[in-house]
Amino acid sequence: MIATGLIKFYLPGNTFQVGSKKSRFLDRMLLKRMLMSVMKNSPGLYILLCLLIMACSKKNSPANGTPPAVIVPPIVVAADTSLYKMVPFPMGAAVAINLVKNNAKYSGIVTKEFNSITAENAMKFSGLHPAENTFFWTDADYLVAYAQTNNKRLHGHTLNWYQSMPTWVTNFSGDSTAWEKMLKTHIQTVVAHFKGKVAAWDVVNEYFNDNGTVRNSLWVQKLGEDYIARCFQYANQADPDVLLFYNDYGHEYSTAKRTAITNMIASFKTRGIPIHGIGLQFHLSVGQPDANISAAIASAAATGLQVHISELDIRLNANKAQTFPFTTTMASQQAAKYEHVVKAYKSILAAQQYGITTWNVTDADSWIPNWQGAPDYPLPFDANYQRKEAYRGIVRGAK
Ligand code: G3I
Repeated sequence: MIATGLIKFYLPGNTFQVGSKKSRFLDRMLLKRMLMSVMKNSPGLYILLCLLIMACSKKNSPANGTPPAVIVPPIVVAADTSLYKMVPFPMGAAVAINLVKNNAKYSGIVTKEFNSITAENAMKFSGLHPAENTFFWTDADYLVAYAQTNNKRLHGHTLNWYQSMPTWVTNFSGDSTAWEKMLKTHIQTVVAHFKGKVAAWDVVNEYFNDNGTVRNSLWVQKLGEDYIARCFQYANQADPDVLLFYNDYGHEYSTAKRTAITNMIASFKTRGIPIHGIGLQFHLSVGQPDANISAAIASAAATGLQVHISELDIRLNANKAQTFPFTTTMASQQAAKYEHVVKAYKSILAAQQYGITTWNVTDADSWIPNWQGAPDYPLPFDANYQRKEAYRGIVRGAK
């Protein structure tokens, strides 16, 4: 309610810093009423008053000229409410192990709000297999124990990717037989280690280019395009019970990529290559049309496989502005986009709803600002560990 009042209070080209003090807010409400009445009775005087207020507010701006940030009041949700209890499918977050270990506020949110977790980095090739004959299990095993203690599903990410390879792999000089052995050893050692502990694996991540052609990764160069099918077979041999996913981004903006993925899945089925799920990363921009999001989800569901929205975040700073305060308007646009994602996802068969996972937990931990070199606020919790309007958007979408 407060936020709505404040949105209406904005004057053209001007935002007021919202203090937490109620008295300031009430003063503004009075001023707002006064302005509305002047606007009706004397438009000229109204413009004059607006100009005066804008001039005064500029005086209060920080010395560097950046507009003051609009602090969005935290959403009030009952203290005992959990996000995962309010949605009809598993609700997950990717987590950074060091934060789960060392930041009580962060792990508190993960424990309370989510019932599925993915390691953001700890189960990638470079995280688990730093040297040819060395596997590093400590961090990922910590997450396994955390998941078991707190009754969370653990999603494995990722057995094969063209990124996050340790230098011993990028420098590997063996022939194709040696490369094949190295790939198989990695996949089967990792899958066997986590057998019975992870529900599913992203087996191969980002195999396709946006135009639907196969990415010319080191794996394809060394092993040929069909190595992807063998990845799924190796994983299945090591743990016949674990679900196997193909994970990628761009389903929402590239029909060519979407088609390439669904064709690959169809061909896997024909050939008897084991595959159980499709991961739509959904690193979305707030401007992404709802229709594209719905089409991507529908196309994934049409494969008949499990559908995982596997890395959801919704960024706002399309122009990569270096100064980018989070406003109430942005908060509600972002919430509406989250709501649409959930609504569209909920419309597919319940049996295919593997779940939705956000890519990390709070705006302070997201990969987006680093990646785009500019600030952003892509997640449902803010940097102060408070629920954002986006959180409420998810809940609305699930209704
Ligand atoms: O581990 C080192 C740490 O020791 C060092 O202090 C720090 C200094 O920069 O770097 C740390 O490693 C970084 C790691 O994130 C942990 O912060 C890597 O350099 C960095 O490359 C890595 O980025 C990750 C990226 O994948 C590459 O693996 C992001 O956190 C992670 O969010 C991102 O996730 C990917 C998904 O796996 C696949 N889909 C796209 C998504 C976004 O790129």
